[in-house]
Amino acid sequence: MFKNKTPASKVLDRVLVLEMVRVTEAAAIAASELVGRGDEKAADHAAVEAMRKAFDELYIDGTVVIGEGERDEAPMLYIGEKVGGAPGKGPKIDIALDPLEGTTITAKAGPNALAVLAAAEEGCLLNAPDVYMEKIAVGPGYPEGVIDLNRSPSENISAIAAAKGVKPDEIIVCVLDRPRHAELIAELRELGCGIQLIPDGDVAGVIAVTDENTTIDVYMGSGGAPEGVLAAAALRCVGGQMQGRLLFRNEDERGRARKWGIEDLDRIYALNDLAKGDCIFAATGVTSGSLLEGVKRLKGGTMTTDSVVMRASSGTVRWIKGEHRP
Ligand code: FBP
Repeated sequence: MFKNKTPASKVLDRVLVLEMVRVTEAAAIAASELVGRGDEKAADHAAVEAMRKAFDELYIDGTVVIGEGERDEAPMLYIGEKVGGAPGKGPKIDIALDPLEGTTITAKAGPNALAVLAAAEEGCLLNAPDVYMEKIAVGPGYPEGVIDLNRSPSENISAIAAAKGVKPDEIIVCVLDRPRHAELIAELRELGCGIQLIPDGDVAGVIAVTDENTTIDVYMGSGGAPEGVLAAAALRCVGGQMQGRLLFRNEDERGRARKWGIEDLDRIYALNDLAKGDCIFAATGVTSGSLLEGVKRLKGGTMTTDSVVMRASSGTVRWIKGEHRP
């Protein structure tokens, strides 16, 4: 049973939940034209333009809190940009978005590229700077506190294995395939864990822990902080635990975090700190993967989409297949 006791937001209208899928569908369809074409930038640009346009159709007074970058570095869907067709009139909603999560995946026609967004009442999504975030996540059904970023990977694996009633070497861990994870991977190998190395796309990687079919028990390692907030919104809807800690490589990154009001740079964020209150998470597959099928083009020009939309207050998860005729 879904045990989330988050009260329903009066600002997030029920209709809006389904409307969000239109937005991710539009971005996914646009990006899909560039799958396997070797051009990350063009694929991202197509998704951004389509998502921006789709937002205009919605009766919301939206603000991008996680977007394509800061105003001076992103022409569209930058942080702070107003989106939606009812500025000053519609419900005030904060939006975290990634029109194309997995630009390289798309360029190379790999798995798990998504168009993704999360929406919540003003102030409910962490305004995460575009830095790395150390992440750990497990799906629903574990005792509270089973994961803790203050513990070593081995300690976390032991706690998860004990809670699951298996040996540590039966735990499957999803990790981004990056040189910076060499130590983590070595430690997990030492324990005998199964490691699913993903080339990119840790929003899908984190969400995979909530789906027993993936066999992934835990997500570990560092990826983008904005992607961490998006994944957290999904976990708030389906259950599970997650922690994140921002990682800074230089003074410029620390400065950026302070600019977003983050004072404690070493803070460990719990799931509810990353995405609190009622929230909506929507994603459409660009390429097929563990979460969704990619966009398919049928003879005659019809395109099919595969999306998921969830809401934290109800715990409802809707899988939506779309057929879009030319
Ligand atoms: P993009 O869509 O921006 O390319 O992000 C893909 C991604 O793999 C994310 O899923 C992940 O959080 C991040 O990049 C990891 O960053 P890096 O490639 O620098 O390790």
